[in-house]
Amino acid sequence: MNNTQLYDMAVSAAKNAYAPYSRFKVGSALLCEDGKVFTGCNVENVSFSATLCAERNAISTAVNNGYTTFIKLAVATVDGKRILPCGICRQVITEFAPHCEIIFNNDGEIASYYISDPLADNFGGFSPSNC
Ligand code: THU
Repeated sequence: MNNTQLYDMAVSAAKNAYAPYSRFKVGSALLCEDGKVFTGCNVENVSFSATLCAERNAISTAVNNGYTTFIKLAVATVDGKRILPCGICRQVITEFAPHCEIIFNNDGEIASYYISDPLADNFGGFSPSNC
């Protein structure tokens, strides 16, 4: 299972998203140590704080099936927008997989970082010409 394949599974999972409030359909695909993949989508609620993110949905399904050792997690929107896990999802990912590789669409290119990277997706500086 390469990163692009896992990313494509996340896109497929996003098609099942229940997102009538944000209309932002997200999917996630979680690769376990033995090669098994679990997917999840976001499930929104009219009481917004009850919304479940795609990543936590995939992790919850995996744990419910007896899997707790994860290698990679892909996150995607249904239409290829750039998305990275929110803070709550990063915390939950770290609980099970502190070195998990996070795969995402970086404006058209499948990219990844490690959840353990303290500077993941950091501010990269600015060009004086833009000031
Ligand atoms: N969402 C996710 O599913 N994963 C994230 O990491 C960030 C946000 C969902 C939650 C909500 O349904 C929608 O995206 C808009 O925030």
